[in-house]
Amino acid sequence: MTSEKRDARVLNLYDQLIEIEQRLIPTGLHILGQPSDPAERADMLRMIASFDRPEAGVRALPDLVCDGLGLERYEEILRSAPRDEVSRSKQQRIDGIVSESAREFVNKGTDAAVKFLETNANVPSDQAAPVFAMLEGISRQLTTNNELESLLRALRGEYIEPGPGADIVQNPSILPTGRNTHAINPYSIPSTVAFARAEPIARSLLERHVAEKGSYPRAIGLVLWGLDNIKTHGEGVAQALWLLGVRPVRDALNRVTEVVPIPLEKLKRPRIDVVMTVSGIFRDLFSPTVQLLDKAVRTVALLDESPEMNYVRRHVSEEIQDHREFDEAVTRVFSNAPGNYGTNVNFMVMDSQWEREDTLADLFVTRKCFAYGRDSAGRSLDGQEARVAMDRALARVEATYQNIDTFEIGITDVDHYFEYLGGISKAVETRAQERPSIYLSDSLSRDARVRTLEETVRLETRAKTLNPKWYEGMLKHGFRGVAEIENHVSNTFGWSATADAVDDWVYTEVAETFALDEAMLDRLRSLNPHSAQALVTRLLEAHGRGYWDVDEETLEKLRDISSSLDDQIEGVA
Ligand code: BEZ
Ligand code: MG
Repeated sequence: MTSEKRDARVLNLYDQLIEIEQRLIPTGLHILGQPSDPAERADMLRMIASFDRPEAGVRALPDLVCDGLGLERYEEILRSAPRDEVSRSKQQRIDGIVSESAREFVNKGTDAAVKFLETNANVPSDQAAPVFAMLEGISRQLTTNNELESLLRALRGEYIEPGPGADIVQNPSILPTGRNTHAINPYSIPSTVAFARAEPIARSLLERHVAEKGSYPRAIGLVLWGLDNIKTHGEGVAQALWLLGVRPVRDALNRVTEVVPIPLEKLKRPRIDVVMTVSGIFRDLFSPTVQLLDKAVRTVALLDESPEMNYVRRHVSEEIQDHREFDEAVTRVFSNAPGNYGTNVNFMVMDSQWEREDTLADLFVTRKCFAYGRDSAGRSLDGQEARVAMDRALARVEATYQNIDTFEIGITDVDHYFEYLGGISKAVETRAQERPSIYLSDSLSRDARVRTLEETVRLETRAKTLNPKWYEGMLKHGFRGVAEIENHVSNTFGWSATADAVDDWVYTEVAETFALDEAMLDRLRSLNPHSAQALVTRLLEAHGRGYWDVDEETLEKLRDISSSLDDQIEGVA
């Protein structure tokens, strides 16, 4: 290996370490009624202060530090950091100062934090003070906690004050917790901010595909969820509109009810065909948005543009040449049958009730092949079954994608990510006869990034499942903590089953950390033998289904552990 190559490799490794280190990792479960501890609070406040808060009239701390140190804009530093060592060390310096100031604030108060920034980064006190004044209010709300009292009041049938549903970093006005979470007016989305934020993410998504595959994806399969679009005021929806190359238009009542095409000269790229699978919750909460998305596809399909620059029109024309009706050819918004929710792919995987991966793909389509929107005559489709239309639309998909908008829940924390994004990816793979590129974005950080699924699985594994800080945090919760560790392993397995996206080392290190380490195994089995057993069984299943290449000796040990856990459980029962 040349020394240049070696240096590049070391730098890349270093980047990955920093990325893991900087991830905000929940270090335990939330206990109802219990406020966060000071270290968590400092982490949370640092994240909150890393964004401009125009509503409070304060600027982001990293920007203030950049100004104080006479550096270029923080955004520019973030952009160059992956390629340039000088920018990287600047970023580290800025982030270090910001973190330290948050700790000063939590431990010693506003004056100390303001003084710290003045001394260490020349940030004028009249600029830092308003930031910490804002953080004081948020910090107070983080330390008072009415959750138990609200729960009791709710159980007594008393009135609970409403509060918005959002991510705390995105919108600190969700505090105090313990309120009655409400959604948003569906006609208000996508908000102007969401539409603006979605543009660079949609662009990065397409750039990433071009870099890896050499061309734009002709069609992308999207997953849209309800809660996410409440939290972000429609960022996922806005990304879909950008991919199609249309902008939302508000009517006289300020409701988003129309779209207009962004001219191709401005867009400077083809319009991408999007196949949308929306959750049942999204369908219920965002009925006008479902109509808007359907209308957007129909509008784009009818534009008089070349098939090279308008993939929706191209695909619809192909379908019509193939003797399909326009209304069938243009269907792109799919969800469950009315009154139904979920894909059930997660249940099938968790219960090991499948033999072939095709079964998972077919289950996804069976659950999700119901069309929403309006036909050319203006009649509501009302969720009628459209399996053929969905199969044909999925067969053209080259990439699948979901927007992740929160630090709190990642792709191995719950089984819903693999049931949806994994489910659609497997459905595409079996219909297109080729595995799609699978992407996720991380829209909440300042340097919003698009990652492949494989990268995201590695990052989540390193940051959570195999991170002692994470699993020790879980183990403090005893029985439930072991169940959480097992959940992560099973959810990771879900990404093998639906997308073959898990490296062998992940299972190897899970086995070494939680099963083959005797002291750890003893802890797990004394806290929760059932989950310990489920974890070991899942590892054996990963091998049995061909997702984990491992030596016979390790397997033998795991089988022994499994039978000794069986004995223990039977003795307990
Ligand atoms: C949703 O918000 O749409 C959703 C929430 C949990 C699981 C799946 C979807
Ligand atoms: Mg493999």
